[in-house]
Amino acid sequence: MISFTRGVPANEAFPLDELLSCSESAIQNFGAKIFQYSSSFGFQPLRELLSEEYGVSPDQIILSHGALQILDFTSSCFLGEGSSALVELPTYDRAIQVLKRSKATVMGVPLEDDGIDLKALKEKTASFKPRLIYLIPDFQNPSGTTMSLKKREKVAELAREFDFLIVEDIPYRKLRFQGNELPQIRDFCPERTITLSSFSKLISPGLRVGFAFGPSEIISRIALQAEETYITPSLLPQALVFEFLKRGNLPGQIKKLHSLYFPRLEVMLDSLRENFSGMGDWIKPEGGFFVGLTLKKKVEAPLLLSRAKEAGVLLTDGRGFFADGGGDNFLRLPFCALKPEEIREGIGILARLIKEM
Ligand SMILES: Cc1ncc(COP(=O)(O)O)c(C=O)c1O
Repeated sequence: MISFTRGVPANEAFPLDELLSCSESAIQNFGAKIFQYSSSFGFQPLRELLSEEYGVSPDQIILSHGALQILDFTSSCFLGEGSSALVELPTYDRAIQVLKRSKATVMGVPLEDDGIDLKALKEKTASFKPRLIYLIPDFQNPSGTTMSLKKREKVAELAREFDFLIVEDIPYRKLRFQGNELPQIRDFCPERTITLSSFSKLISPGLRVGFAFGPSEIISRIALQAEETYITPSLLPQALVFEFLKRGNLPGQIKKLHSLYFPRLEVMLDSLRENFSGMGDWIKPEGGFFVGLTLKKKVEAPLLLSRAKEAGVLLTDGRGFFADGGGDNFLRLPFCALKPEEIREGIGILARLIKEM
């Protein structure tokens, strides 16, 4: 089976030898500290290290079991029945589910090649007064788009004007293969932005180490929610990540990921050009894990999924990425965990099936 279902790192990307040695050091260096209950904010030395990198104070940072869990806490703290949240259309399917679980109304704002459609965003914020907007500005999941500088500034302006909280989720930000890094949205509006990120895509998702930073009163509210949920997060993986960073291993690991993933992105783009020209639209991502393919003609999503499975290709239902309907003609194509020959074969099979349909 060729799986285009999940945005997972390649198994061969995990730095196993370094992780083994970092776990030993973590236990040796921190001993009982990481085997005891502790603060719900997470492992203090890692908070301090991240606070230096992001130019915030350690009390503005919380560590948890992945960024998605922090989104869940954020949504429990700030959303609820009668409130509304805006997301990009399309966006990360699990984020939609988490936000909807709070019973808030979750609405989509169309995405353009350079990020969210500002006119539609302004209309929706004025009409619905959302409490929160969830954005993935760098190499968006599932479309691969990156939000332009101008749009980052404008979103920050709108947050002030309409009094909403921005949640920017940036797990792919360091996986930029081309082009120049842009400022975070947070840089234009630190007082109302929560930034979510994670080591899932850089070191390993199985470690479950994610983090968030933002205004300290917001982070404290999230930490209280965390405390009421699990008392203390799992500290050993956080101490292990701390050792990994402290030894200066991350830049080399990121370099390794770039040389593994960038050629796979190029094969994906070549295969799309060869097989889907005239049949669909996609943008050329400058990094990340995904290319989003929008077919020019609508296909019946369940039928495509089952035919693809019979032909040996697994797909995620594109409709899951659209908060308020649509997505029949959308396919998310992750490329990082597939070998180049699998990408070529998988895209060839998909094109043939879609032509037949
Ligand atoms: C945009 C986005 N946010 C969050 C996550 C989940 O991250 P974590 O493993 O840190 O919970 C993912 C994983 O695919 C993602 O694409």
